[in-house]
Amino acid sequence: MFHHGPGQPGAVKEVNRWHDHYARRARNEKWPARSVYKLEEIDKKYRIIRAGDHVLDLGCYPGSWSRYSLAKVGSRGSVVGIDLKEPRDLSHPNFRFIRGDVLNLDEAWIAEQVGQRDVVISDLAPATTGIRVTDASRSTALAQKALDIALEVLKKGGHFVCKIFENEDAKQLRNEFSHLFEQTRTVRPAAVRKTSREVYILGLHLLE
Ligand SMILES: C[S@@+](CC[C@H](N)C(=O)[O-])C[C@H]1O[C@@H](n2cnc3c(N)ncnc32)[C@H](O)[C@@H]1O
Repeated sequence: MFHHGPGQPGAVKEVNRWHDHYARRARNEKWPARSVYKLEEIDKKYRIIRAGDHVLDLGCYPGSWSRYSLAKVGSRGSVVGIDLKEPRDLSHPNFRFIRGDVLNLDEAWIAEQVGQRDVVISDLAPATTGIRVTDASRSTALAQKALDIALEVLKKGGHFVCKIFENEDAKQLRNEFSHLFEQTRTVRPAAVRKTSREVYILGLHLLE
């Protein structure tokens, strides 16, 4: 929670300004979550999503990444979203939602359901406990599962965007990416909370 008021330390004020800026912008631009600006920044820089692409969005609730992707892929593309919770007001002819806990879904079953994908984006995040090691290990488990799913559904040459909380395990995952994709990048978009440890690992151009 952020509180305004006199006597507030400068650093907290700074975080508030940042928080207010992205929250206000998302409200004005009618996005369900300000996390859309993280994907937008990554996409603008690395050209991840193109017209006609078929996208899989892991952890899609409340739906801003799926909406952004739908706008980018256009009428020839499609987006499938998976989450524990269904995004509201996201009925679109090119969007399909699958409710489920990714940790309990079989990758081969997902592949059967969604078919081959050009892009997999994962913003999966655990409900945080505030205990750093617990949150980090849950985030790593989600990121590892997202990678397993991506490897099952991605076309050769496809791209993968994966959120993870930065820690030792993230380094290992990045190393795994480097053997699987032509290029690997780690990005911390401007819209990530200053206090958050989250980063996005990008796998660009899946090899064989
Ligand atoms: C940061 S939010 C995603 C925000 C989304 N990218 C957007 O822009 O609207 C993370 C999501 O991961 C989902 N999630 C966490 N663990 C999950 C799991 N095991 N299976 C499916 N979804 C999960 C949560 O329900 C939550 O909606």
